[in-house]
Amino acid sequence: MRVVLATVAALLAAAASQAQSAAPAPPLRQCGICHGRHEFKVVARDGTVRPLFVDETVLARSVHARWQCVDCHADVSAIPHPPNLGVVNCQRCHFPGNPVGAPEDVNYEGYVKSVHGRLRAAGNTKAPLCQDCHGGHDVHKRDDPHAATGKLRLAETCGRCHLEQYSQYRESVHGQSLLGKGNLQAPTCSDCHGEHSILPPAETASDVSATHIPETCAACHGSMAFNTAFDIPINPVKTFKHSFHGIANELGSARVANCASCHTAHQVLPPSDPRSSVNPANIPATCGKSGCHEGANANYARGRFHIDPSSRDSGVIYWVALFFKILTISTMVGLIGHIALDLAKKIRQRHGREARGE
Ligand code: HEC
Ligand code: HEC
Ligand code: HEC
Ligand code: HEC
Ligand code: HEC
Ligand code: HEC
Ligand code: HEC
Ligand code: HEC
Repeated sequence: MRVVLATVAALLAAAASQAQSAAPAPPLRQCGICHGRHEFKVVARDGTVRPLFVDETVLARSVHARWQCVDCHADVSAIPHPPNLGVVNCQRCHFPGNPVGAPEDVNYEGYVKSVHGRLRAAGNTKAPLCQDCHGGHDVHKRDDPHAATGKLRLAETCGRCHLEQYSQYRESVHGQSLLGKGNLQAPTCSDCHGEHSILPPAETASDVSATHIPETCAACHGSMAFNTAFDIPINPVKTFKHSFHGIANELGSARVANCASCHTAHQVLPPSDPRSSVNPANIPATCGKSGCHEGANANYARGRFHIDPSSRDSGVIYWVALFFKILTISTMVGLIGHIALDLAKKIRQRHGREARGE
């Protein structure tokens, strides 16, 4: 049994007298008689308190300001209403072709097919519904700083359920840059995982599956201008694609190292940081992960991984590459010259024969 603090009977009496006095409001708009009171709450037998106060100004500032309580809480059809109401179904209005003006160019289907939507449909109440990410009463558009799904708040929103990933991300160069410095070009969860269509890394179609990870990081690190803007001296995507790992990855190998195998997914840090998985001190452990180069020793930490043979900074590799480039070009030039001379000789001989009337 629950004890309702502000007794329902007293509130109903208040509702009745209010209805008699002022212009009568339809009863289903009178939710505020009970839920408009700050102290309104239920206390369960075990002492847990469930606050039931609803701040209407929060709703009034949200994208749903023009809707009534019962437009969302559609199972309330009379007052007093029964306990144990169902959860709100946002998809009553949010679907392609809806008649109420909810945006249609949103990937609703992506949620249904996502790991979250599938688990929820299978009865897992720990998987998020729309409101678990967007909020119930305080829903805002993406560009509104109050939005729980906005760039600066999303990590915390996902992090309520994914604690470990959130705490690692917060410490990473990406988390520090976005949340610490407010750099909106640094990624939040959805930049790597997608917004609605979040899939487990084990599924090939996922943005974070082994063979899609390079493309996902490339959305930012694929352009040299982007890297230069953040003092990253190389194009890590281009150099990765030239490497053995990169070629095998492009051919579909999920076992070969991808960006996240070396950099981790959520604890990404600059190589100069002693905590980084690619700091020279940690490279033997990173390369020596089971299934990779077991027994990797300090030699692995010599040399560099991201090598661009066309950059002078690559040392001997640059010169070797340059030597082969010059060798190839001079061989080609020699070959073409040889063919040209041979051709010229043949033409001269023919002219000579014609002139002699042979
Ligand atoms: C007479 C007082 C009263 C009025 C008026 C009232 N409610 Fe309630 N409401 C309650 C009580 C009491 C509970 C707690 C029920 C329980 O024990 O689960 C509740 C619970 C709820 C809950 C569920 C909260 C939760 O966490 O489970 C929702 C949603 C809700 N009311 C919506 C409405 C809406 C919408 C209206 C207006 C159409 C409304 N209520 C009008 C008394 C009222
Ligand atoms: C845009 C849809 C929407 C509207 C409009 C709306 N609610 Fe809710 N409300 C929700 C969602 C979502 C939740 C979270 C619980 C759930 O998922 O069912 C919620 C939760 C609640 C709760 C539980 C306590 C809490 O704050 O979590 C109460 C009580 C409640 N609403 C009452 C109201 C009242 C009263 C109004 C009108 C003043 C109203 N709601 C308008 C969507 C809505
Ligand atoms: C009664 C119909 C209705 C319900 C139920 C409803 N919405 Fe909406 N929602 C709308 C309409 C209409 C808009 C467009 C608002 C506008 O721009 O005026 C909207 C806008 C939004 C937006 C902003 C999108 C944009 O760019 O305008 C988000 C996000 C959103 N709703 C999420 C939700 C969530 C989450 C729920 C469930 C808690 C929900 N909605 C329940 C009708 C509804
Ligand atoms: C796992 C978290 C999550 C879930 C679950 C989720 N969304 Fe979203 N949704 C987002 C993110 C992130 C965005 C993009 C950022 C933003 O719009 O704030 C977004 C964008 C939107 C937008 C466009 C908002 C705008 O301003 O352009 C709407 C509308 C929307 N979602 C509605 C829904 C509905 C309806 C559901 C349930 C069927 C749902 N979402 C489920 C995270 C989620
Ligand atoms: C820079 C890109 C990136 C960002 C930002 C990111 N992730 Fe990930 N996430 C990944 C990759 C890549 C994987 C796959 C890791 C693997 O295969 O081992 C992954 C895997 C996951 C998994 C599956 C379990 C696991 O740890 O492997 C969860 C859950 C997850 N991320 C949640 C989050 C959340 C929550 C956030 C935001 C706080 C976030 N991610 C931010 C790239 C990212
Ligand atoms: C209400 C809780 C909740 C919220 C909010 C939530 N998730 Fe999840 N998520 C889950 C549950 C539960 C699972 C399935 C169990 C698991 O694998 O961790 C899951 C699974 C995942 C997976 C697949 C994990 C795997 O190992 O296969 C990824 C990736 C993921 N979520 C990312 C996100 C991102 C990104 C956000 C925010 C945009 C988010 N989640 C928001 C509860 C949540
Ligand atoms: C949305 C854009 C974006 C995505 C996607 C992204 N990054 Fe980044 N990354 C950045 C930005 C911006 C910085 C620089 C942050 C700063 O210094 O403030 C950075 C920094 C880094 C650094 C540190 C470089 C240094 O030496 O300072 C590494 C390593 C890195 N990212 C790896 C990755 C990997 C691996 C992925 C994919 C799993 C990835 N990033 C995905 C934007 C992104
Ligand atoms: C086999 C392991 C490995 C793979 C795969 C890998 N990296 Fe790296 N990455 C490193 C190492 C080691 C460093 C440290 C500098 C070096 O050795 O070139 C590094 C450095 C970086 C830097 C910082 C450069 C600097 O000097 O500040 C960025 C950014 C980066 N990697 C992004 C990526 C991205 C994006 C991918 C995938 C396209 C990727 N890495 C794939 C091992 C790897």
